[in-house]
Amino acid sequence: MTAQIINGKAIAEDLLNSIKAKVTARVHAGKRAPCLAVVLIGADPASAIYVRNKRLACEKVGIKSIAYDLPTSTTQAELFALIDNLNADSTTDGILVQSPLPSHIDEDLLIERISPLKDVDGFHPYNIGKLAVRQPALRSCTPFGVIKLLQAYNIELMGLDAVIVGVSNHVGRPMALELLLAGCTITSCHRHTKDLAGHIKKADLLVSAVGKYGIIKGEWIKQGAIVVDIGINRLADGKITGDVEFDIAKERAAYITPVPGGVGPMTVATLMENTLLALELSERAD
Ligand code: GUN
Repeated sequence: MTAQIINGKAIAEDLLNSIKAKVTARVHAGKRAPCLAVVLIGADPASAIYVRNKRLACEKVGIKSIAYDLPTSTTQAELFALIDNLNADSTTDGILVQSPLPSHIDEDLLIERISPLKDVDGFHPYNIGKLAVRQPALRSCTPFGVIKLLQAYNIELMGLDAVIVGVSNHVGRPMALELLLAGCTITSCHRHTKDLAGHIKKADLLVSAVGKYGIIKGEWIKQGAIVVDIGINRLADGKITGDVEFDIAKERAAYITPVPGGVGPMTVATLMENTLLALELSERAD
């Protein structure tokens, strides 16, 4: 079997176009456009690229983005004061603080400082908890993007044996909750998992979110499985790869996401959707 390659770039474009249509309709109806505050601390080159892509996506769909580019020396108190102001500002719908953060800023405290109603990353324990109790509100962008990608290919998730590799707060854990919500039987694997290969060999759906090229051997993939690769790794020669041995895995899987061009573009599109949703939810609460 040779897998169908899932085109995340194209599906993300479709999603961005539909968000743009909704934003345009709002504006034509005399309502305001959504507004996203994008906070970047320091000069990490990778973060600068991610943030630039997020700001460009805002521009593309008609979401207003406000840039807060802060020096690495910004104190936690200064950052929290900015967050408090943005939480209180009725014209700011979403707040995104790009990570990684400088080591003197406590990320857990920061995430809890952002109002859960403006938490467009879907990282706040309130939003993770809402997902856990089957009442999804603002959903973590990458896992939600994966669900949308699979839905776009009409892949039925109900009843699948899903294996998620990686248990980070931002990706692996909410991914497991998303797949549970979608009716999968879920297994989360991590550094203490005794038999990673054994779990993966039984998986109808494999989602890898580790960030280590080749950790998933192509020969472990079950014939006809769905393979979603969230890993982004830069090799010594500058090439970008995922976690999975793609060339071998694609000869066994039914569907597979490439890296780049798979899950990545969906994360940004889902962020746009969350920003529009945050505004719509706040209007409903008025
Ligand atoms: N750094 C890398 N990915 C992300 C993301 O999705 N959100 C935030 N806030 N920081 C990131």
